[in-house]
Amino acid sequence: MWSSISSIYLTIISTPISKQVDREAEGVNKMVAAAGRSREERWSLAGATALVTGGSKGIGHAIVEELAGFGARVHTCARNAAELEECRRQWEARGLQVTVSVCDVSVRADREDLMAAVTAVFGCKLHVLVNNAGQSLFKDTAGCTGDDYARIMATNVESCFHLCQLAHPLLLAAAGGKGSSVVNVSSIAGLIGLPALAVYSMSKGAMNQLTRSLAAEWARDGIRVNCVAPGGVRTDISSDKTIDRELVKKEMARLPMGRIAEPEEVASMVAFLCMPAASYMTGQVICIDGGRTIT
Ligand SMILES: NC(=O)c1ccc[n+]([C@@H]2O[C@H](COP(=O)([O-])OP(=O)(O)OC[C@H]3O[C@@H](n4cnc5c(N)ncnc54)[C@H](OP(=O)(O)O)[C@@H]3O)[C@@H](O)[C@H]2O)c1
Repeated sequence: MWSSISSIYLTIISTPISKQVDREAEGVNKMVAAAGRSREERWSLAGATALVTGGSKGIGHAIVEELAGFGARVHTCARNAAELEECRRQWEARGLQVTVSVCDVSVRADREDLMAAVTAVFGCKLHVLVNNAGQSLFKDTAGCTGDDYARIMATNVESCFHLCQLAHPLLLAAAGGKGSSVVNVSSIAGLIGLPALAVYSMSKGAMNQLTRSLAAEWARDGIRVNCVAPGGVRTDISSDKTIDRELVKKEMARLPMGRIAEPEEVASMVAFLCMPAASYMTGQVICIDGGRTIT
């Protein structure tokens, strides 16, 4: 392993600076810059196509509405067909351009079907992928079963990795025009230690690292990869009855803003990260946590 790392290093240092600069220029040219565009163009998603997983509820629902509100055509998915269809109907009534697919992101074949649907709907070009669908698990480590571990890892990490792989050709096809980007939704649990959340925290920590690795790998393709890490947000996950009430009290006492977030407060950052206005941002994990991680 060390010999392959040192050979990569030697290739880099033995490559003439002019060639390195040429390659960098090639990448920068592909990564469409915000500079030189009007303010309206920099802060818009008009004409963009986006896939948001888990859009029928909570943070994903708010992200769908925010991206569609800024002019994107959005495709979203969830497992519950009836809830998804009700959302689609309401979005249509409000004039938002949103299509839907039933999909369990923890299942490989479902992810492949989802990307086939996205390819058909958007004609092979995807400007934005938001890996939002996720599940939590509040359980002491000693009590976690193999099934608990497998469910959380398949839903939160494997889905994120595989959907990025599947979306890559579509993101690449879109990158030449407006630039394209991935936004992962992790959690501050992936950055700090919290009791009874080990498996969930591991999955979110992996998403944070995948963000940095892909950002480094895909910058030359014109694809930016970022991550938002929310603290507590008012959704079904945060009202889960299995959360220890004492832990909630302690967490609230450490929270400078003294309240949890509304889903829209996460969605606005996701929208920004997808816009040309964020054209020089990649590989970042941004906490949206009312200051929790600074205390
Ligand atoms: N709420 C918080 O306090 C908080 C804090 C930090 C991070 N986050 C993260 O934010 C993301 C969204 O959480 P949320 O609080 O908005 O959750 P939520 O209100 O429970 O909504 C989750 C959404 O994802 C869908 N979903 C869940 N499992 C899925 C699966 N296997 N396949 C496809 N869709 C699935 C759900 O629909 P179906 O059930 O119909 O599939 C729903 O649309 C998650 O990744 C979560 O870890 C949340």
